[in-house]
Amino acid sequence: MRAHVITYGCQMNEYDTHTIRSELVAGGHHLVDHPDDANLILINTCAVRGKPVEKVVSLLGEFRKAKRAGRDLTVGMMGCLAQLEEGQEIARKFEVDVLLGPGAITDVHDALKAVDAGRERYESLRFKTDLDTLIPPAPDALTGFLTIMRGCDHHCTYCIVPTTRGPEVSRPVDAILAEAEAMRDAGVQEVVLLGQNVNSYGLKDDDLPSFAELLRRVAQVGIPRVKFTTSHPMNFSSDVIDAIAEEPNVANYIHLPVQSGSDRVLRRMAREYRRERYLDIVREIRAKVDDVVLSTDVIVGFPGETDEDFEATLSLFEEVGYEHAYMFAYSARPGTPSAEHFEDLPRETKIARLQRLIDLQKRYAFDANRRWIGRRARVLIREIQREGDYAMGHSDQNHTVLVPKDQVTRLGLHDVEVTQATPHTLYGTVAGRDATAIPLAVAS
Ligand code: SAH
Ligand code: SF4
Ligand code: F3S
Repeated sequence: MRAHVITYGCQMNEYDTHTIRSELVAGGHHLVDHPDDANLILINTCAVRGKPVEKVVSLLGEFRKAKRAGRDLTVGMMGCLAQLEEGQEIARKFEVDVLLGPGAITDVHDALKAVDAGRERYESLRFKTDLDTLIPPAPDALTGFLTIMRGCDHHCTYCIVPTTRGPEVSRPVDAILAEAEAMRDAGVQEVVLLGQNVNSYGLKDDDLPSFAELLRRVAQVGIPRVKFTTSHPMNFSSDVIDAIAEEPNVANYIHLPVQSGSDRVLRRMAREYRRERYLDIVREIRAKVDDVVLSTDVIVGFPGETDEDFEATLSLFEEVGYEHAYMFAYSARPGTPSAEHFEDLPRETKIARLQRLIDLQKRYAFDANRRWIGRRARVLIREIQREGDYAMGHSDQNHTVLVPKDQVTRLGLHDVEVTQATPHTLYGTVAGRDATAIPLAVAS
């Protein structure tokens, strides 16, 4: 078939898309870049907030219309929404042919066979616990995603992810190291260790090392840059901070979702730490890790959040001085405890608070970025703008960095002298490049 995969959601979904694309190619199908050229379209969905769900619904509406008008098209829904009753209802309504939960994407071949044999709809929603398949990195990939664990054992009251992704399962350490070595040998410049809570790695299994130990062992494989996401503050222990500080190729970028600055709200969210514990972790990170950039996830307008609670979030942002943040208005997800038991705040209240926080955060980001002017950053240049004048990459601290594209003849790691800053971007000039950078002719 001529297959096209559309991806929403987080990096776990990007990784799963990479897996399913590899599976499709292995099964003899062709990947096409544009949905109009496809006769198989798979949508890898996200259900964490209302918005990504609305996007899927509108796409499915278009595809149903095209099918009814006679287009030969098989449509699949995969990923987190497919795992939920909400998604299954949507799938029935829009006549989706294939439904694969996030733990079942490797069932795609059985699914296509069943549909080919005339079955009206194929569904697989099992949670596969064997996470051992080695998916080779895409050719010329600069960044490789490497799943180290899946699922989540926390029960944050607002969150649908434990329902969609199932309980925590850690991958065996040998499989992880083998995959990292394959990436290194293929010339991958940056590996991102993935999991809903990477620092719970191995906690349930005596035979596995801790996350700190695993991080050191992956770092020592020798890929030039190692990142990881996401960390939960609960198990973010000193040994993880030491590993980041001491292993030179572990990026000095830490994403540490806080969700709220108010203890009362944290309690109602069932987050297992309090403001002071979180701030202790931040102080230890800032003291030990040079030039560290901290980012976070935060929810504003959680049910029952008072002005005072929201002020506590603002003051926490001031204390931490996040260089970067993902900020969300609370979105009630059907089936979660907070949606069932608490009353949603008015939309205007949530939007007004979100805007205040965004404005404040922009100032911290701008101040932090301005401090880089005149300094050197190590940047993984990954993209040359076709229309614009720049080449784009990310620094070791995860800044987005732009340099004039005529200074770039290779993709890969470059030393960049920072000359200008905006709240979201650093601009600079190329001061040198790493010997491992890939010539453009090969990379494109
Ligand atoms: N495992 C990660 C989070 C994955 S979901 C962690 O615990 O850090 C990514 C982010 O989406 C969360 O951190 C949270 O900030 C946001 N989020 C999750 N559910 C939400 C909801 N119902 N409304 C608004 N934002 C939500
Ligand atoms: Fe969701 Fe909480 Fe698990 Fe993160 S830790 S995925 S927010 S339940
Ligand atoms: Fe969305 Fe699932 Fe990721 S709900 S954020 S794609 S884990």
